Amino acid sequence: MNSIVEIRQMSKCFGPTVALDSVDISARPGEILGLIGENGSGKSTATSIYAGMQLCDSGEMFFKGKPWKPSSMNDALLHGVGMIVQENGTVPGISVAENIFLGETKSFMKGPFVDRRRMCSEAQDALDRIGADHIRAEAVTASLDFQDRKLIEIARVMAKDPDVLVVDETTTALSQKGREIIYRIMEQMKQTGKTVIFISHDLDEIMEKCDRLTVLRDGKIIRTFEAEEFEENAVKAAMIGRELQGSYYRDDYDGSVPDEVVLRAEHLNLGNELVDLSLELHRGEIVGIGGLSHCGMHTLGKVLFGNITPASGSVEAEGKPVRNEAEAMKLNIGYVAKDRDTESLCLEASIRDNIAIAGLDRIAVNKHFILPANEKKYVQKQVDSLSIKCRDAEQYVSTLSGGNKQKVAFGKWIGRDSQILILDCPTRGVDIGVKQSMYQLMNQMKREGKSIVLISEEMAELIGMSDRILVMKDGSVKKELHRSSTLCEADVIEYMI
Ligand SMILES: Nc1ncnc2c1ncn2[C@@H]1O[C@H](COP(=O)(O)OP(=O)(O)O)[C@@H](O)[C@H]1O
Ligand SMILES: [Mg+2]
Repeated sequence: MNSIVEIRQMSKCFGPTVALDSVDISARPGEILGLIGENGSGKSTATSIYAGMQLCDSGEMFFKGKPWKPSSMNDALLHGVGMIVQENGTVPGISVAENIFLGETKSFMKGPFVDRRRMCSEAQDALDRIGADHIRAEAVTASLDFQDRKLIEIARVMAKDPDVLVVDETTTALSQKGREIIYRIMEQMKQTGKTVIFISHDLDEIMEKCDRLTVLRDGKIIRTFEAEEFEENAVKAAMIGRELQGSYYRDDYDGSVPDEVVLRAEHLNLGNELVDLSLELHRGEIVGIGGLSHCGMHTLGKVLFGNITPASGSVEAEGKPVRNEAEAMKLNIGYVAKDRDTESLCLEASIRDNIAIAGLDRIAVNKHFILPANEKKYVQKQVDSLSIKCRDAEQYVSTLSGGNKQKVAFGKWIGRDSQILILDCPTRGVDIGVKQSMYQLMNQMKREGKSIVLISEEMAELIGMSDRILVMKDGSVKKELHRSSTLCEADVIEYMI
């Protein structure tokens, strides 16, 4: 009892997909409730219904003991329930201040005009209060990066001083600074007797920050753990419905690889992002690239795939130059971008289109004819072998969960039998079940003699998967570390900062 948020027997379907099946969730004043579950388990659906973004098919909701039926996200916020969504929640073409007071221009009218000066100054206050004073309220939102746009959403929500704050998988997309802002807000809310519902797929993070932890799986509540019951394996088992089988990362410590070089970059320069950087990738090798977010590693990934042209230097595979994406694809190089929603995938298209597009040359008969049956077979093979959770291959990618989107991005390249994969943060925003299957996939590719450049911000993943780790700083490689069972995170971090 004594709960401020109460969801009872909530169900919700999207066509044939049962997103929520008789879900009960309750959160108390003065607590941070964690919500965890694999991608697609229903976390965003349940919380977004509570925050007024969509309707449920059946079930009851209560807020402070009274029936709760918000008519919109703004309505919910005005009554005390705010949510920071997983996706981008700002409008790009307008100013930061207008985003912070979205839908509230009326309260800033001075005669027939909007008093922009007052709006900006109040917006600036809202930004300053959450510790995001580096953002100017007058700036055009589109000119800001993802992190700053997230901070705008946080300022918007916090300006209304909500009693309940839902944070949906926001922290993974943020840097340390952004995370600290969120953690501080969460802690303050808790201290003042308010409530936070914190959604994350990062088990360590969620166990550290939360007072209780509710686990969802396939739209059902599996169990709620009290703080004293937090135990990694028990939570994981509840999430995936079985004990994790086999090892998570690679379990061999033999980092030796054949001499044959399949990809070579020489003396790459590009502003201060790449400074005389050279590297070699061998057959069957996984080379990890680590560093702080502005060290140049994401740019390097794009250069290796011919997506960005360096100011000087060269990339070659099989002795042939890689100067653009077409050449990269001919040389069997594949690339999964860090920002998969805008760069790797076309969200408003089907799984079939997304996977087939990179494989047209493999599907075509006599180079020119695409037989629908062949295309279907090609795509279905990827859907099956990667276990992409979907209704069918015609489903739009925009409706898939993060992990399944990422599987589609992999499917594009695996389908065409890429020999070299450049993966930029491939497991970002992906839960442990999908993560493990991606590691297994990388391992299998390695065994088949394929080669991988693994660009990652996660130390554990770099150490767990790489034959060699190149640590980047200020555009160049500062240190090369070899696979070993004794390598630890501090060894890598030491060279990053
Ligand atoms: N707008 C939508 N249209 C169709 N299916 C959806 C939509 N939103 C969510 N789903 C489906 O509902 C299920 C639950 O999704 P979601 O709540 O986003 O999961 P989570 O946040 O736990 O990753 C998934 O199978 C997802 O594909
Ligand atoms: Mg979600």
